Amino acid sequence: MNKTTIRFQQVGDAERFCEILNNDNFIYFSIRPSIEEERKYLSQNLKSRKKNFEYNYTIIYDKKIAGAIGIKINQHSTHIGEIGYFIDENFWNKGIASNAVKLIEKIGFNELNLERIEIVMMPENKGSIRVAEKCNYKREGLLAGRIYNNGKYHDAYMYAKLKNEYSQAGIN
Ligand SMILES: CC(C)(COP(=O)(O)OP(=O)(O)OC[C@H]1O[C@@H](n2cnc3c(N)ncnc32)[C@H](O)[C@@H]1OP(=O)(O)O)[C@@H](O)C(=O)NCCC(=O)NCCS
Repeated sequence: MNKTTIRFQQVGDAERFCEILNNDNFIYFSIRPSIEEERKYLSQNLKSRKKNFEYNYTIIYDKKIAGAIGIKINQHSTHIGEIGYFIDENFWNKGIASNAVKLIEKIGFNELNLERIEIVMMPENKGSIRVAEKCNYKREGLLAGRIYNNGKYHDAYMYAKLKNEYSQAGIN
C-alpha cells in the first residue's frame, strides 16, 4: 500500500513546491512563489518552529514529494492551531491530504499542546471541504472576508476539531 508520510521541510524542496504551486488549477490557493521567495520562506522554518509560530511539513507519497501541510499557531491564543495544505494535482483524490491532516493533528494535539485545530476554506473548494469532513472536523459557520485569494477577500467555512474529539484511528 502507498503510504503518506510527513517530514520537516527542507530548503531543497523549493523547486518541487514551486512546480506544484504554479498551477492555474489551484483556484482557491493563489500563492505563486518564485524559487527565490520559496527558498527564503523555507529557510525560516526552523526559526518559525522555535518561536512556536508555525510547523511546516513536506508530504511524501510513493517516495515522491506530493505536497505540503502546516499548522500555524494563533499567537494570541496558543492553544489554537490552523492547518493548511496543498497537493500536486497529479496526486489529487488519493487520500493524501486527508492522511496528512491525520498525521499533523496528532502532532498538534500530542506535542504542540493544542486544544483546538481549525481548517478554513472557501465554500467553492469542495475538495478541501471533503478533506475536513473525512477527518471529522465540524463546520462551525461562515466567516465573512476571512480568506485573501487572488486579490480579493472571500468568505470561508470554519471547520474545527477539539482535542477531546480527537481519535488516532484511520491513518493509512
Ligand atoms: C484540496 C486538496 C488539498 C485535496 O487534496 P487531496 O489529496 O486530493 O485530498 P483527498 O484525496 O484526501 O480528499 C479529496 C476528496 O475531495 C473530493 N473532491 C475533490 N474535488 C471535488 C469536487 N469538485 N467536488 C466534490 N468532491 C471533490 C474527492 O473525491 C475526495 O473525496 P473522497 O475520498 O470521498 O472521494 C487539493 O485538491 C489541493 O491541493 N488543491 C489546491 C490547493 C488548495 O485548495 N488547498 C486548500 C486550501 S484551503
